[in-house]
Amino acid sequence: MPEKENYILDYTQLAGQRQYTQLIREYLAGAHETPPLALVHSFGCQQNAADGERIKGILGEMGYGFTESPEEADLIFYNTCAVRENAEKRVLGTVGAMKHYKRQKPGLIIAMSGCMTQQQSVADKIKKSYPHVDIVLGADAWARLPESLYGALCQGRRSIKSPGEEPDTILENLPARRTGWPKAWVTVMYGCNNFCSYCIVPYVRGRERSRRPEDILREVEGLVAEGYRDITLLGQNVNSYAGGIRFPELLRRINDLPGDFRIRFMTSHPKDCTRELLDAMAGCKKVSKHLHLPVQSGSDRILAEMNRRYTVDHYRELIAYARERMPDLSLTSDIIVGFPGETRGDFEQTLDLVQKTGYTALYTFLYSRRSGTRAEGLPDPVPGEEKSRWFQELLEVQGRIGAEYMERQVGKTFRVLVEGPGRGEGKLTSRNDQNVIVEFPGDPSLAGQFAEVEIVSARNWALEGRLVPEENR
Ligand code: 5AD
Ligand code: SF4
Repeated sequence: MPEKENYILDYTQLAGQRQYTQLIREYLAGAHETPPLALVHSFGCQQNAADGERIKGILGEMGYGFTESPEEADLIFYNTCAVRENAEKRVLGTVGAMKHYKRQKPGLIIAMSGCMTQQQSVADKIKKSYPHVDIVLGADAWARLPESLYGALCQGRRSIKSPGEEPDTILENLPARRTGWPKAWVTVMYGCNNFCSYCIVPYVRGRERSRRPEDILREVEGLVAEGYRDITLLGQNVNSYAGGIRFPELLRRINDLPGDFRIRFMTSHPKDCTRELLDAMAGCKKVSKHLHLPVQSGSDRILAEMNRRYTVDHYRELIAYARERMPDLSLTSDIIVGFPGETRGDFEQTLDLVQKTGYTALYTFLYSRRSGTRAEGLPDPVPGEEKSRWFQELLEVQGRIGAEYMERQVGKTFRVLVEGPGRGEGKLTSRNDQNVIVEFPGDPSLAGQFAEVEIVSARNWALEGRLVPEENR
């Protein structure tokens, strides 16, 4: 059994919120001749994008239609990211510019949620300096969305997150407006307990909470029945999933569900990525042979400072084992350049690891100081320009490695899932099991289906292929 279940709430059973939803529906129907429009924009990671689909689901129940245009919108909802300072600056810039829209359309409602507004200091700043913002919710306070929106719409009441509102629940049965067909996200756990010293996430997303396996299985089954074919299981560290079974067992159970679909997952923390997980990946046919395993640094000293709790040797051993079990495995990773106290020597160890590992793709970030984290006060003597040069060097090294990887795929045949029209005339875009984009000429009716494609050439970010006719397979 899960360690505790009292944090799991059923959205459809929250009587008060259902009532507010109904009241808003009636109000909107009376106030608008055509359905009012909402713009929902999510910044940042996949979890935020998945949360954005839930926000849209809740708003859809109230009668909102959706738009991408702020001019058309009656409600603008920003689901924010706090992982780096740049992300926060972009959000504040965008929200600041909304003042102008609000002046033109006084009935416009502006709402914010997510990791940035979970920080009380940010919520307070918005309350004081952004008076045109009507609603500020925390990282996953959607249970309060109907009530807050009712206050703003019908009573002209601002609703700003107050101290002590910590994310500590899981809401099941939230409606969702998914926009990624034939791909879908399924959150398996919320929060993070790891406290990597640079990272704000544990402070804003709260402690780890795992969904029940039966709820996850039901959701995946429903998605497959609706025609979704690529399911990504989400969690800050899926390896510490603790819903009564461990993550490898969850993978096996999802793999056993009937239907032709793919299972992906992210993110894995190297300290918790076990051989059992890699064996489960290797043994489950539907589990994609792609592992996103963020290493963050190639220096043991920096890894210790980052509180990552593994060594470079441990990481290399994991990868060697993974490749032994899955020779066609595609590996991707996250790396932070310029962590406080990182020297040229440390950085060269990162370069060495990247060169030796051979990643398909890397997500590289310049260290960004986050207030409240353990690394915040560390001395940081290396000038920004120097860090930017290292960053550029890493990009160049990975650019070559990535291009070589892409070249090596030419001549191979892959089973791809067709996502829809591609960039060129008559082209389709698809992804192979390794999560690499494959474009090829084909009929748009193939969208949502698997196809066999032979790779004929490689570009930096995508492979070009041609459909293998059924009789040649
Ligand atoms: N500065 C730079 N990058 C960061 N990440 C998390 N916090 C920071 C920070 N303060 C990166 C890590 C993580 C990814 C999602 O974002 O590499 O794996
Ligand atoms: Fe942040 Fe580390 Fe948790 Fe990932 S595992 S969300 S980097 S604290």
